[in-house]
Amino acid sequence: MPDNPSSDVLLVTGAAGQLGRRVLANLLDVHGVAPQRLVAVTRDPAKLADVAARGVAVRRGDCDDPATLAPAFSGAHRLLLISTNVIDRPGVRVAQHKAAVAAAEAAGVAHVVYTSMPRPDRSVIPFAPDHLATEQALASSPLGWTVLRNAWYCENLGFTLPSVLASGQWFTSAGDGRVAYITREDCARVAAAALIAHPAENAIHEITGPAALTTAETAATIGDVLGVPMAVVQVSDEELVQGMIGAGSPEPMARIWASFDSNTQLGNFDIVTDAVERLTGRPPETLRAHFTANKAAYLPAGAGATT
Ligand SMILES: NC(=O)c1ccc[n+]([C@@H]2O[C@H](COP(=O)([O-])OP(=O)(O)OC[C@H]3O[C@@H](n4cnc5c(N)ncnc54)[C@H](OP(=O)(O)O)[C@@H]3O)[C@@H](O)[C@H]2O)c1
Repeated sequence: MPDNPSSDVLLVTGAAGQLGRRVLANLLDVHGVAPQRLVAVTRDPAKLADVAARGVAVRRGDCDDPATLAPAFSGAHRLLLISTNVIDRPGVRVAQHKAAVAAAEAAGVAHVVYTSMPRPDRSVIPFAPDHLATEQALASSPLGWTVLRNAWYCENLGFTLPSVLASGQWFTSAGDGRVAYITREDCARVAAAALIAHPAENAIHEITGPAALTTAETAATIGDVLGVPMAVVQVSDEELVQGMIGAGSPEPMARIWASFDSNTQLGNFDIVTDAVERLTGRPPETLRAHFTANKAAYLPAGAGATT
């Protein structure tokens, strides 16, 4: 690694994803990193033509095709490994992420930042072992590493809300379990800061929103902001699964989605830290602020329009 951190080449994998794009924007526009120091790796470089036009090196890299990773990672000093989105086939991501870790090591990368999830060691979510195995692969490598255990995105609620808005009922098996929702943008701010930082030690950070809310509190907040009353209906895990299947969700995905609620009830998302402020200098956005700023995006087209 060069002595002068400002000469480090910073690489972002999965750069065309929603998080990856925001991380690149943070590095360029907030931290003022010179584009010549950045490498954006994606399966489809055409999607990042705008980023390439700013002077960032855009390279093709696909964790399903490890041979692409050696040229993609060449010359990088610090690398953000964004977890892939293959959540419906547990185990696939382990191979993808291990290929990336091995390629980073072979390319002489000094430090890897990885986007994990809360408490992967005790989570009941089917894809949690993928994150745990990736954390372990980093820990047993000679690489320096920073693990960002990102809490659940506020934006995930966009998948739940259409049926809630249509029926006025929010079915959940989460009981009084709490989730410290965080915005994707705050996760991107943290990832950019972690990629730039030169920590003395490897570390796991729990990246959370500012408060852990029950489903009742979440529904009350969102209902208040959107102006739509929402009744929270507690059901069993299996009733939740069957309800989603009845609404048209394939059973494997219904079981994954329902496991978020089971995991919430077990307390595995009930973590609040000051890591966002500590790592970025600014506290995370609240759920209320996020929904207030993005109200129109969460309401059905036409709803809430003024005449
Ligand atoms: N905390 C949460 O609530 C939450 C919610 C959703 C997702 N996540 C996790 O956080 C990650 C980033 O979130 P996001 O919002 O950016 O999701 P997204 O927009 O769905 O992005 C998917 C990401 O997966 C990458 N990817 C997929 N297959 C890949 C492969 N074979 N090799 C390399 N990269 C591959 C994509 O990279 P390219 O398209 O550039 O190749 C992209 O960065 C997700 O992939 C998922 O692991 C967390």
